Amino acid sequence: MVGADGSCVDCSMTHTLSKIPPYVFYELDARRARHRAAGKTLIDVGIGSPDGPIPSVVVETMQRVAADRALSGYPYFQAHPTFTAAVTGYMQSRFQVALDPAREVLALAGSKEGIAELVLSHAEPGDVVLVPEVYYPVYARSTLLAGAEPVFVPFLADGRLDLDAITPDQARRARVMIINYPGNPTTTSVTLDELARYVAFAEQHDILLLSDLAYSELSFDGYVVPSVLQVPGASRVAVETHTCSKSFNMAGVRIAFVAGKQEAIARLDAYRSNIGYGVSTLSQLAGATAFAHAAELVPPIVTEYRARRDRLVAAMRAGGWDVASPAATMYLWLDVPAGFDDWGWVDALMAGPGVVVTPGIAFGDAGRGKFRVSLVQNGDTLAAAAAGITSTVPA
Ligand SMILES: Cc1ncc(COP(=O)(O)O)c(C=O)c1O
Repeated sequence: MVGADGSCVDCSMTHTLSKIPPYVFYELDARRARHRAAGKTLIDVGIGSPDGPIPSVVVETMQRVAADRALSGYPYFQAHPTFTAAVTGYMQSRFQVALDPAREVLALAGSKEGIAELVLSHAEPGDVVLVPEVYYPVYARSTLLAGAEPVFVPFLADGRLDLDAITPDQARRARVMIINYPGNPTTTSVTLDELARYVAFAEQHDILLLSDLAYSELSFDGYVVPSVLQVPGASRVAVETHTCSKSFNMAGVRIAFVAGKQEAIARLDAYRSNIGYGVSTLSQLAGATAFAHAAELVPPIVTEYRARRDRLVAAMRAGGWDVASPAATMYLWLDVPAGFDDWGWVDALMAGPGVVVTPGIAFGDAGRGKFRVSLVQNGDTLAAAAAGITSTVPA
């Protein structure tokens, strides 16, 4: 078990848990808490938790469901029919992807847990899980929990995965390959043709392709995020996770879904039925309302993030930093200035202007030398954060 300070507590209890390195976010929390305790006022752009309100139409559903006596029992294992209907309708209208609601969709209590459970239900000791070299931490941690080996696939200069770097032995042992476009923290976007390349690779090597599409709706300037399930034949090899957390400001509701390859969904369903019940009915029906109303609910949220991105980028540039404007996600992924290491830079920003950012090593060794800024504050606060960052070391 990992303690609040990131250290291993009673690791003798389990051999797989003890192999997992301390979670960098625990360390970031501890440093943030120390500065706050010393009276420092901080601007927190480190976390990726949306600060906007849950849409009112979703709140109304939650109030109604909470008061409905008929919905107080255990939920369905797989998904509530209202949830699968809303999800299949959304996938059809948003991506023109037709799904079988009974066999190709499963509700998840957030995509983080769902991704972990997919890995745990598919990989075991001796197996490999292919993970992008800069990655959302659960990809590697769930692999280690399964006793399997994460193999980090390097990026090409444009952010695509270098599939040629995967050795024949790694490809033979691989059970799952995870992709994440638009990427957290990299913000890299992808085309449907590129997704087809991953589908072909997965098919050739008989690997489950797991596409984490947490940022499906947060894109700007005309870029429309594709789904891997739009690739013809993809549902033979691929599953994709979608979440309400970012698209609808519902991170606290914990509702997401996985769609695609039937055998993988059945395997995940079987795994989960041994350790829990289905996802909370309240969360599922909240998610159903969100997906059913996606066409109205998403645009104002995207407009807000675009305005924040533009404000932050402009303020960074005004401070002399030459930063690119990302086409998707809610982050900037920036270089740590020369003369600082990752934690040294994070500490300098906390102790100086009081800005909390996430060090790149939170996303794996290959994230070293970078840091992430999240668009989770209003424009004025982001501009103040940018001023603090750029004045700490003018580029
Ligand atoms: C790439 C990526 N995947 C998954 C998640 C987890 O989302 P959820 O709230 O659905 O668990 C996040 C959250 O930040 C994320 O950035």
